[in-house]
Amino acid sequence: MKISVIGCGYLGAVHAACMADLGHEVVGVDVDAAKVALLSAGTPPFFEPGLPELLRSAIASGRLSFTTDISAVREATVHFIAVGTPQLAQTAALDLRYVDAAVEGLLPHLRDGDLVVGKSTVPVGTAARLAELVRSAGSGATLAWNPEFLREGFAVKDTLAPDRLVYGLAPGDSVGERLLDSVYASALALGTPKVVADFATAELVKVAANAFLAPKISFINAMAEVAEATGADVTQLADAIGYDARIGRKFLNAGLGFGGGCLPKDIRGFMARAEELGVDQALSFLREVDSINLRRRGRMVDLVTEVVGGDVAGKRIAVLGLAFKPDSDDVRDSPAIDVAVRLAALGADVVATDPEALETSRRRFPDLNYVASVDDAVRGADAVALLTEWKTYRALDPTLVGSAVATRAIVDGRNCLDPVQWRAAGGCTEPSAPLNVL
Ligand code: UGA
Repeated sequence: MKISVIGCGYLGAVHAACMADLGHEVVGVDVDAAKVALLSAGTPPFFEPGLPELLRSAIASGRLSFTTDISAVREATVHFIAVGTPQLAQTAALDLRYVDAAVEGLLPHLRDGDLVVGKSTVPVGTAARLAELVRSAGSGATLAWNPEFLREGFAVKDTLAPDRLVYGLAPGDSVGERLLDSVYASALALGTPKVVADFATAELVKVAANAFLAPKISFINAMAEVAEATGADVTQLADAIGYDARIGRKFLNAGLGFGGGCLPKDIRGFMARAEELGVDQALSFLREVDSINLRRRGRMVDLVTEVVGGDVAGKRIAVLGLAFKPDSDDVRDSPAIDVAVRLAALGADVVATDPEALETSRRRFPDLNYVASVDDAVRGADAVALLTEWKTYRALDPTLVGSAVATRAIVDGRNCLDPVQWRAAGGCTEPSAPLNVL
């Protein structure tokens, strides 16, 4: 298949590289010349495990190229829209201007039989509107909506072997379905379930999935609040309820809560759309989900304040982890960054590190003090706040960390250290210097 991908940010770059890896001929188009230059050189402008290798081999094979020239899409039959839909400033609604511009930019180049495929997360109703736009341009091209469910850190795997494929199609669009089947032939051959639906259902599947996952995290964080008040162990609680197959253990890790470019934005955008549709009551629970989530950040700041004696002003606080989750350099709506910034605002001398997100953090929050290594961060610190559960942080030596930290206190914001091991190792183990677990 000949494919174009409009928008080569996180979603588009991964999608383009994966489609080329599957044997398709792919051109990625983006308005950002610097991004196009980086991608053309085989260097993703963000951190994603496995992507650089995939990108380089696809480019070397001749099946993948990137350009700023939209007319390059003329070679392709299937055109994926993978541009961003950020949250509009001052409101919870999503900004559709990039999606609209991408479709409008495609129109002069479409031919009969072409398929425009939306992948971006959009408010329900958008696909029908854009399908009409494509139809009325008279090229004979049609539109489908094919939401994306990839997770940062697992993006390549999630794209090559997705849990499911969802096609939102106009009634009777068997040509669109056949084209998508050809694009995803290898995933379908693996037995990937396929759901063929109308536009509204396909759009809703995407936000509904995130609106299910976010409450799961806030549920366990609500239990963490109760556990803390009662002395119970929320991790054991999650293990025990997770054995129930109806509940499942995944997404029950209590801690600092969810962040990133998707879950927070999507549940807010979904609420905003529900309000427009007059069904805001149906989603009112998401407001509580959001506030439980945000409360975790405040609780983390309070815990750090407690362990340094009630006031962080002038105290050196080592922050381990800045990315919103491990295996990512993404700091959009990162709970870790939020905590670090709040501590700094309270007068703490924050010294922060992260294996991959130092550059992205520095760009957005130039006023924090960044260091390259854990050793540099913890040396002489009054307390350590572990805010992103990178594998290397899970493997830290409790004795070394403990001996570098004045209060011998580490506040584990991600519940990723074993409190028994850390206390037993003689690092942060003194009764006066507990390992605090969020
Ligand atoms: C999320 C969804 O998981 C994807 O399926 C979806 O495609 C994507 O949003 C999207 O809409 O594009 P992602 O944001 O990459 O993917 O990351 P997640 O793994 O879902 O984590 C989101 C946040 O929840 C992170 O801050 C993570 O630390 C937090 N989290 C996750 C917890 O606090 N506890 C958990 O048990 C799991």
